[in-house]
Amino acid sequence: MDSIRIQGGMALQGKVRIQGSKNASLPILAATLLVGESSLIKNCPRITDVYSMVSLLKSLGCSVRWQEAGIAVDSSQVRQALMPRDAVRGMRSSLCLLGALIGRCAEVVMEHPGGCVIGERPIDMHLSALGRMGVEFEEDEKYLKAFSHGLHGADIHLPFPSVGATENIILAGVMAEGDTVLYGAAREPEVSALCRFLQQCGGWIEGIGSERLVIHGGRRLYGTEFTVPADRIVAGTYLLGCIGTGGSVFLEQAPGEEMQSVLETAVQMGGRIYGSKEGLYIQAPDRPAAVELVTAPYPGFPTDLQSVVLAVETRGKGASRIEERIFENRFRIVEELEKMGAMVELSGPGSALVHGVETLRGTRVEARELRGGAALVVAGLMAEGETFIGGCPYIYRGYENIGRDFRELGARVTSV
Ligand code: UD1
Repeated sequence: MDSIRIQGGMALQGKVRIQGSKNASLPILAATLLVGESSLIKNCPRITDVYSMVSLLKSLGCSVRWQEAGIAVDSSQVRQALMPRDAVRGMRSSLCLLGALIGRCAEVVMEHPGGCVIGERPIDMHLSALGRMGVEFEEDEKYLKAFSHGLHGADIHLPFPSVGATENIILAGVMAEGDTVLYGAAREPEVSALCRFLQQCGGWIEGIGSERLVIHGGRRLYGTEFTVPADRIVAGTYLLGCIGTGGSVFLEQAPGEEMQSVLETAVQMGGRIYGSKEGLYIQAPDRPAAVELVTAPYPGFPTDLQSVVLAVETRGKGASRIEERIFENRFRIVEELEKMGAMVELSGPGSALVHGVETLRGTRVEARELRGGAALVVAGLMAEGETFIGGCPYIYRGYENIGRDFRELGARVTSV
């Protein structure tokens, strides 16, 4: 099932339930390591990133069982902290285990696929923050090793509100002696979900949801049951999919209060949106209006939905300017969209001008990463004729079953 075939050009109609959040599940599953008891994490999505995290936890000695109600993790038997390459599957997914594991074991060894890790920008903030809390690092060709003779609280200033670094500091902070005061923390709802989970386990964190967090360390943590919130990025993908195709949909359990910037953009595109505790109702315009979009840390517009807006605006009324300020390589779908007849001008690594066309035409395209892949599915729904999308395992890293969900909204989508 590596490909998706879409017969496009139909307005969406109907309702779909939004899965649990990927970006909340992963650090919460990592946090179960700190508890040393059994925890039950409910509403985890059945996606490959969660499967990878489960196999990593197992490789560390946790007993992990998928139950009807959720994922039960018993971390009482964790003895060793070697993360093998097969289980790691890419540095970033294993990274949120670092802060948790170093709180549990004095030495953590991560096997990596080679290349320099220390000194590279993408994890410099993680390493320097953990360094301030008493962690030392060593790297050779094969391993990144972290050692600690006891974590201690520290005052940490993040130069940019990195989600992963904030999560790592929180995870290490609850196990450290003393208080950690984090300035410039990421405010993403998934960070708050991690804090709520840890509070429920007996941790004490002040300032949840703000850019200054105080993590009171050294408290005993207990196992608990926790329900992962709905995925605002999946909800946003389907909402924008509706804006692009036309029609009206109800997104059950969509977390509207965490989606304000996305809702504002959807309204600017001509969508009409009604929110309630049960979810979001969306009525699409005939054709999306052009927008100016700049991605930013929460509560700004999420980078994870930038590609989907770009795909929708290929049929916009006029020209849309899209500025990517978080991850510069997020314009890789442009080449694929152009095969479908889209007109996009890239000016520099982080800026695109999308000239809306009357219609996209279906063709064969290739997903090259998770969110760009989902955006291609949306483009396929908007296009006339048949679109064939390869590389769909990228999409399954974050979407349980994007084909099934859009079928529930009346689309003609098959996995092949
Ligand atoms: C998380 C999300 C991802 C989302 C991103 C931004 C998860 C599993 N993933 O990723 O879906 O797109 O937040 O909202 O939650 N950076 C550094 N040095 C560091 C750390 C980050 O330079 O030490 C840079 C990154 O290269 C990037 C920016 O900071 O340009 C944001 O990264 P970060 O917020 O850390 O993203 P992730 O936690 O990896």
